[in-house]
Amino acid sequence: MTQRTLVLLKPDAVRRNLVGEILGRIEAKAGWTFAGLELRQLDRATLEQHYEEHIGKPFYEPLVEFMLSGPVVVLVVEGERVIEGVRRLTGPTDPIAAEPGSIRGDFGTIVRENLIHASDSEESAIRELKIFFPGLS
Ligand code: TYD
Ligand code: MG
Repeated sequence: MTQRTLVLLKPDAVRRNLVGEILGRIEAKAGWTFAGLELRQLDRATLEQHYEEHIGKPFYEPLVEFMLSGPVVVLVVEGERVIEGVRRLTGPTDPIAAEPGSIRGDFGTIVRENLIHASDSEESAIRELKIFFPGLS
């Protein structure tokens, strides 16, 4: 089952020079490829669309400020079961609860600064890919 998923390496990952390490873990999975890859400064309107489900929650505003605090790597990963697969590599939202061996479990401590976003379902992947790569066929 070939899929595409939207991945963001968040400003903390870029600032901490973890881009190569994280991309390497994803790229190393057999048969997975990058269908889009760019360093990009996001704007508020894009983040509002992306984090639509979280608008109004107490962590929403600080999350958006954090995501605006520096460039992110915007990435499309394509391959066998990438949606579930990248979420597994990423680990759960809270980096302290994330297993060592996962990206968040190995490098994170703070929930907000958890290094990486990955689409959580086929529906989310389609929606998020349209936001970040509207030209992708
Ligand atoms: P969420 O979609 O719940 O997590 P995930 O990224 O694992 O899909 O939340 C989006 C981001 O919001 C999350 O990566 C970090 C931030 N966040 C907080 O800062 N505090 C919180 O309590 C939660 C749940 C999320
Ligand atoms: Mg989410």
